[in-house]
Amino acid sequence: MNFFTERNTTRRWLYAGLGSVASLLWGAQALAAQASMNIVSDWGGGFQAEVTVVNDGTEPLTDWNLSFDMAVDIDNIWNGVVESHNGSSYVLASAGYNNEIPVGGQVTIGFVAFPGGQSAVEISVDGEGGSSSGGSSSSSSSSSSSSSSSSSSSSSSSSSSSSSSGGSSSSSSSSSSGSGGSGSSGGRLDNPFTASSNWYVNPDWAENAMNEPGGAAIADVSSAVWMDRIGALTDGRGLRGHLDAALAQGADLFMVVVYNLPNRDCAALASNGELLIAENGFERYQTEYIDPLVEVLADPAYADINIVTIIEVDSLPNLITNISLPDCQEADGPGGYRDGIRYALNQLAPLDNVYSYVDIAHSGWLGWSSNFGPAIDLIGDVVESTDAGWDSVAGFVTNSSNYTPVEEPYLPDPTLNVGGQPVRAADFYEWNDYLEELTFAQDWREAMVARGAPETLGMLIDTGRNGWGGADRPTGPSTSTDLNTYVSESRIDRRVHRGNWCNQPGGVGFRPQAEPAPGIDAYVWVKPQGESDGVSDPNFTPDPNDPAKRHDPMCDPYAPNRYDSSVGTGALDNAPHAGRWFPEAFQVLVENAYPPLEE
Ligand code: BGC
Repeated sequence: MNFFTERNTTRRWLYAGLGSVASLLWGAQALAAQASMNIVSDWGGGFQAEVTVVNDGTEPLTDWNLSFDMAVDIDNIWNGVVESHNGSSYVLASAGYNNEIPVGGQVTIGFVAFPGGQSAVEISVDGEGGSSSGGSSSSSSSSSSSSSSSSSSSSSSSSSSSSSSGGSSSSSSSSSSGSGGSGSSGGRLDNPFTASSNWYVNPDWAENAMNEPGGAAIADVSSAVWMDRIGALTDGRGLRGHLDAALAQGADLFMVVVYNLPNRDCAALASNGELLIAENGFERYQTEYIDPLVEVLADPAYADINIVTIIEVDSLPNLITNISLPDCQEADGPGGYRDGIRYALNQLAPLDNVYSYVDIAHSGWLGWSSNFGPAIDLIGDVVESTDAGWDSVAGFVTNSSNYTPVEEPYLPDPTLNVGGQPVRAADFYEWNDYLEELTFAQDWREAMVARGAPETLGMLIDTGRNGWGGADRPTGPSTSTDLNTYVSESRIDRRVHRGNWCNQPGGVGFRPQAEPAPGIDAYVWVKPQGESDGVSDPNFTPDPNDPAKRHDPMCDPYAPNRYDSSVGTGALDNAPHAGRWFPEAFQVLVENAYPPLEE
């Protein structure tokens, strides 16, 4: 395709200065899309910029690209790609997942380039569609001064609080309700959490918590119930028993984790599941697990409870980063994770009181642009391939069972220059674009909206164990000029390595709450505190309920770290199998709670 055809394209020039944006109208064309540049930070040797493309036309804008002249070298780019670079002429294109910008929508590309000392430049937009009526000379105007941020309006206006870079200012697309998906969610609520005032407390977990010192402070808080094997549907209290207990509590919101895909936990050993693709696992997942689970949820007795389903923790993310491993490779194929999740969503979607949130791991896993874009594509494709498309999900959930903080209060800007390099270049962050869950979740939401998800899409963040309080919590940013020292003295995430996921000494985090930030439906407790992530002893006895669960060396405090053998796993010792009660872990989490707990 020729980038510069004028046929049905839209073109507008804008000049953006540092801090101020002025637009220049270009001829009398159909001025339906515009782009502006903003220099976010400049540390002399380099700078970070954002380019925001706004579609204020009357048709979706597709196959768009952006041209500008700037005598710099772009070193790292997210939410877009460099399509061509000749001398000082750049053409940037979409990252694929954001190739279509709905009417009223916008996309923000970020990049880091060298050298610094630059001013923002004019940018032209070319693309298919998007022109207001017929592609030619309508009278432009209307939004002429709608510079970058004015269209943010509505729900997730510029991503707030955390002020970090990587797309912060991007905000959501306007209130247009966008393209596909909107409007037909069968009477579902936009955000089930705001509409519910009495969230279910799991009595089994509460009893365990009450029996631990300090546990009373959180024993009355809501957390998710895990259906982690076929037997869990009926053993003990079972799913029905939990829902009956919810009725008895007068609860109007119930969270259940759907967690039993064939080849489950394909890149680790601690939570390997009972079903295998090679042993008819997909068939069994459907008939012995999802069908009976859906049958219980569909019981009219529970119709007044808003039921939140957390869909298959860590599964699709493994297909982004771990398909070199045989079990994940198999899970990437027929009867694997995609088919399983599609089936689950297809069965759950017809239930009007069920709200599904698909797991997207966390920022320390999918935050690099090389993972983020492909994950948007893969997970977006799975959702769109369901019978109801976007109507089959309420949104996505991050940080399930992980420890990544909602915000790094003393590292708000991943691009801040310390000793000649941006903060994100520190060893701990390994150039990840995101240091925290909040901006990651908000940008994820925006990327999905840009690809066609409705504006009602919402995000959940598991805040059960990511509080990181206690004596070692920093109280302000470091004053060091050495980057790694600066980062390790400033971050509240005290892990020795950011990839450490097993039984970490984190702390109870934010209490569950609805709508804590733009784009976020709720902070929730997905992983109940005090339940182990995996057995620490390599010479373990199998778990009678789930004999497939094994020892993962990442759960062994004496083993080297799988991702970096120069550091340890940071795992707590004497841990039982995943899901089993682990009093020492509970104790540490309560002691390190942040905000601190009140008795
Ligand atoms: C385990 C599950 C358990 C869940 C909640 C997972 O790591 O594999 O068996 O139900 O954690 O504790």
